[in-house]
Amino acid sequence: MTAVGIDAIEIWTGNLKLDLPGTFAPQKGEDPEKYTKGLGLNASSFPDSYEDIVTMAANAARRLMERKGLEPDDIGRIDVATESAFDNSKPVSTYVAGCLEQVFGSDFHHANKGERKFACIAGTQSLDDAYNWIRAGRNRGRGALVIATDTALYARGDAGEATQGAGAVAMYISEDPSLVELSTDQGYGSADETDFLKPNQQFPSVDGKRSIQVYLARMREALEDYESVAGDVHPDDFTFAPFHTPFPGMVRRAALLAYRHVIRDTSIEDDLAAEIGRQPRAEAFDDDEAYHDALREYMDALKETERYQAWYDATIDPTLTISREVGNWYTGSVHVARASALKTAFEAGRDLTGETLLIGSYGSGAQAEIHAETVQEGWESEIEALDVDEQLDARYELSWADYEEIHDAHNHEMDVDVEEFTTPSDEFVFDGWGRMGERKYRYVE
Ligand code: HMG
Repeated sequence: MTAVGIDAIEIWTGNLKLDLPGTFAPQKGEDPEKYTKGLGLNASSFPDSYEDIVTMAANAARRLMERKGLEPDDIGRIDVATESAFDNSKPVSTYVAGCLEQVFGSDFHHANKGERKFACIAGTQSLDDAYNWIRAGRNRGRGALVIATDTALYARGDAGEATQGAGAVAMYISEDPSLVELSTDQGYGSADETDFLKPNQQFPSVDGKRSIQVYLARMREALEDYESVAGDVHPDDFTFAPFHTPFPGMVRRAALLAYRHVIRDTSIEDDLAAEIGRQPRAEAFDDDEAYHDALREYMDALKETERYQAWYDATIDPTLTISREVGNWYTGSVHVARASALKTAFEAGRDLTGETLLIGSYGSGAQAEIHAETVQEGWESEIEALDVDEQLDARYELSWADYEEIHDAHNHEMDVDVEEFTTPSDEFVFDGWGRMGERKYRYVE
C-alpha cells in the first residue's frame, strides 16, 4: 500500500508576543513561576491589527507552496480547521484560496474547500479527511492543503487568559510523503461534555479545572480504543508522543497518566516495584475512593522516579519547546508539538527515519484521538526548512498597555482602531470590509 501522510509543514506565528512571567504575572499580582513552572509557558503569540485567521493561514500556505514548488493545480482540497471562524456560511478556506490566487496567478476552482469544527481536534480531523480522500482514490494524483489556524483569545480576567495564543500550521497531505506516514489504526474517546464552548460568542465559556479532567478521561479512552486495534502500546514503541498542548503543564499530567497505563504488566513495572511498589489494581480494593487514593499515591511516586523522568525528558519534553513560547493555538497545537519534537531531533543530529510517533489530539466538547505516524526518509530537509526560531525572535514585544489595546482591537464586540505595531512585509494583510460585510485581503511585498 502506498504511504499517505504529511509531506510538508509550515508554521506561521502571530507577529506579537506577550511575556507571561515578565509582563502578565506582575499585572495579575502573581508569582512568575506560576507561568514558567506551573503552566510551563514563557510567552503567548498575538496577532497584530492587520492579522487574523485568514492572513496567518494564507501566509503559512503560501510559504509551503513556494517551498515545495506547488501550483494550485497540484491541490485538490483545501480544508481549514478553526474554532475562530467569523462566518457561519462562507468557509475560511475560500478566503485563503482567494489570497493565494493573488500571488500564484492561477486558481483553485477545481479544489474542494471546507471548514472543520470540533474545537482543537479539527486539525487532526482534517488530516483524516485528506487521508481518506487519497486512500479512496478520489484525488487524481493531487494532494490536500490542510491548515489549522486560530486566534485563541480569552476574555480579559478569565483564567484562560494566561494560555492565549495565535498562529497557523499549514500541511500538505499526499502520497509518498516526505515527513510522516499516518497509521490506518486510530483510537477515539468521545463524549458529550460541557467544559469549554463558544455558543455563538467569540471568547470561550470555560470551566478550566473540569476541562483538565475531561482531557485526561477522553485521552485515556482513546488510548484504550487505539490499543484495541493496534495491540498494547509499550514505551519502547514510539520515539516521541506529541499531545495537544493547551499549555505544557497539561501535557505533563497527560504524559504521567499515559506512562502509567503503558508500563502496566511490563518489565518496567516490575523493575520499578522495588522502589515504588506495583500499580494498584481495582480488584484489590473494596471501594473506588480507596482505589483512587492508592492510584494517586502511586502516580506521585512514579513521577519522582529516575526512569519516568528520563522517559519524559526524551519522549515528551522535546514536543513542548515551541509551545512554551507561543501558548495555545487550538487546532494547530498538536501539529506544533509534532514539529517541535522533530525539530529538536534534527538539531541533535538524530536519524529518525522509520521511527514512530504516537500522536494524541484533543478537542473540548469533547474528543480525543490517538494514531501513530512513521517518520519518512527526507524528513530532515522538511524540518530544516522551518524558520520558526526567526519568526519567534522577530515578534514585537507588547507592553501591558499595548496588550490591552490589541486585545480590544481583536474583540468583535468593540470598535477599536489600533495602529499596527509591526510593519508587514511579504505577507497577506487584512484590508478592510467589502460591500456585503466580507473581509478583504491584500498581499504586501
Ligand atoms: P489557574 O487557576 O489560573 O491556575 O488556572 P492554577 O492555580 O491551577 O495553577 C496552574 C498550575 O501552576 C498548577 O499546576 C499550580 O500548582 C502551578 P498543577 O498543580 O496543575 O500541576 N503554580 C505554580 N507552580 C510553581 N510556582 C508557583 C505556582 N503557582 C501556581 N508560584 C487553568 C489554570 C489551566 C485552569 C486556566 O489557565 C484555564 O482555564 N485555561 C483554559 C482551559 C484549558 O486550557 N484547559 C486545558 C484542557 S482543555 C483543552 O486542552 C482544550 C482547549 O485547548 C480548547 C479546545 O479544545 O478548543 C482549551
